[in-house]
Amino acid sequence: MIKEKSFKTDNVEIGETEVLVGLLADEIEKRMGDCALENRDLVLGLATGSTPIPLYAELVRRHQEEGLSFANVVSFNLDEYEGIPAEHPESYRSYMGRHLVDHVDMRKECVFLPNANAGDPEKEGREYEERIREYGGIDFQILGIGRDGHIGFNEPGSGRETRTRRVKLAAETREDAAPAFGGIGNVPTHAMTMGVATILEAKRIVLIARGSGKREIVKKAMTGPVGPEVTASFLQDHADVTWYLDGAAAGE
Ligand code: F6R
Repeated sequence: MIKEKSFKTDNVEIGETEVLVGLLADEIEKRMGDCALENRDLVLGLATGSTPIPLYAELVRRHQEEGLSFANVVSFNLDEYEGIPAEHPESYRSYMGRHLVDHVDMRKECVFLPNANAGDPEKEGREYEERIREYGGIDFQILGIGRDGHIGFNEPGSGRETRTRRVKLAAETREDAAPAFGGIGNVPTHAMTMGVATILEAKRIVLIARGSGKREIVKKAMTGPVGPEVTASFLQDHADVTWYLDGAAAGE
């Protein structure tokens, strides 16, 4: 259906993955450049999962082939699994290393993920929020969306006021992760995630959705009632959100 070009309306950008990734990488590159000129850090909020992998690959390519520097980037990940060590291949710490951090010139001490194995999750949640505030808040937040409408690991039932905290993963979320973990029995049952309120404080948010499996939930999130049943629906109330959808996720 839509080839080569992308189609833009209001806060939706529809196109092929390659085109969307190019647009997103352009925006991130521009923001990094603007911040460098102002001698300040760009604070990125990062997602994991399959959706942003092509975007990270393009950012790595720009670093390696075009010299794009990440020296002024600070990053905060949305979430991390509980009960697996950071070195586990499926930890989000490992994922970030594999797909971005190990291949670019980011300062390793400025790559933050919630510590889901902290003995005191409440304290960890508070400190994560404080650290985000110390860096001036998230400038640009990248999100995917779960089949149950979650953003981060804010599963159905998570309210607008939620903050970084320990959560129980929904059955559907664990099923989706089962192949990577070699079976549902190996998938963690809990995680630490930024809350809905934390995410909504980002100055700009982009949500990327790809594939027909996301079509129904994207439609609900964008046009359905705003509420905790579909936590991505809270984005309807944010002043600067763009939905980046491929043709399959956008539907007709
Ligand atoms: C990942 C995250 C999740 C994913 C969502 C979609 O850090 O917070 O909300 O974005 O589960 O996952 P994929 O991209 O694998 O379909």
